[in-house]
Amino acid sequence: MRTIRTIQAFRTWRRQQDSRKTSLGFVPTMGALHAGHRSLIQRARETCETVVVSIFVNPLQFGPKEDYRHYPRDLIRDLKICEEERVDVVFAPQLAALFPLRFQTTVTVGVLSKRWEGESRPSHFQGVTTIVTKLLNLARPTHTFFGQKDYQQCVVIQQLVKDLELTTKIILCPTIRDTDGLALSSRNQYLTPLQRQQAKLLYQALSAGKQAIAKGKYTNKDICQTMHRVVNTHHGISVDYLVCCDAMTLEPLKQVEGKVVLLGAIRLGKVRLIDNLLVRVRH
Ligand code: PAF
Repeated sequence: MRTIRTIQAFRTWRRQQDSRKTSLGFVPTMGALHAGHRSLIQRARETCETVVVSIFVNPLQFGPKEDYRHYPRDLIRDLKICEEERVDVVFAPQLAALFPLRFQTTVTVGVLSKRWEGESRPSHFQGVTTIVTKLLNLARPTHTFFGQKDYQQCVVIQQLVKDLELTTKIILCPTIRDTDGLALSSRNQYLTPLQRQQAKLLYQALSAGKQAIAKGKYTNKDICQTMHRVVNTHHGISVDYLVCCDAMTLEPLKQVEGKVVLLGAIRLGKVRLIDNLLVRVRH
């Protein structure tokens, strides 16, 4: 495995790959790798001849009151994981390389970025789509792998790739969960033991929504009430949103039909958790 820290060296490596004409799988990350990232890398390894992982904590996607400075960073541990997963190249650039002093261009996906996560984190997706555009331009992958846990991010990036005629294929990979259902996330390590106990309620709420649909409840009101009931009685949890939407447009549905996504975000103290479930609804 090779670790590349400069844009120039990465470009040189990438140019060398052109003549090989092989498939190149790309897993963009912010490090603090866990089993969820491992599963993305494994999928990339199964799908593509060459696998590149990027590790870069992107300041643009953090709000002013968010945890950019304290976001977990452990490059040595991350490199060990990448080595174990047989990654070919880790691209881990310095902040100033990707965002030099006079950097002033951003990439914005319209309506899809404004809803749900966008309401709580207004500049978040602009930060994500700007860095992802840069990384895709540098890596020029044939396939790029994202986890379903950040479902809205995946939909926003699909739109970005379509609108800007980028040539990579986006592969959505299943959410990896702890045994009690909590979706793995680098931020789970901020939870106190009590909060960790309560965190599973997010998955339970979404599962209750899914079950309600399976039992024939098709109105948004019924499904959302069912999901809210799971978390409402618990102290210390506040719900940002628990909603039932069209899986492509992320618009709330009055009556569920076709491919639906149940999206949720809760706060436990200072920690904000998100999760989702996809449901295919046939009346
Ligand atoms: O999902 C993430 O870890 C980040 O949002 C991404 C895609 C690596 C961009 O910084």
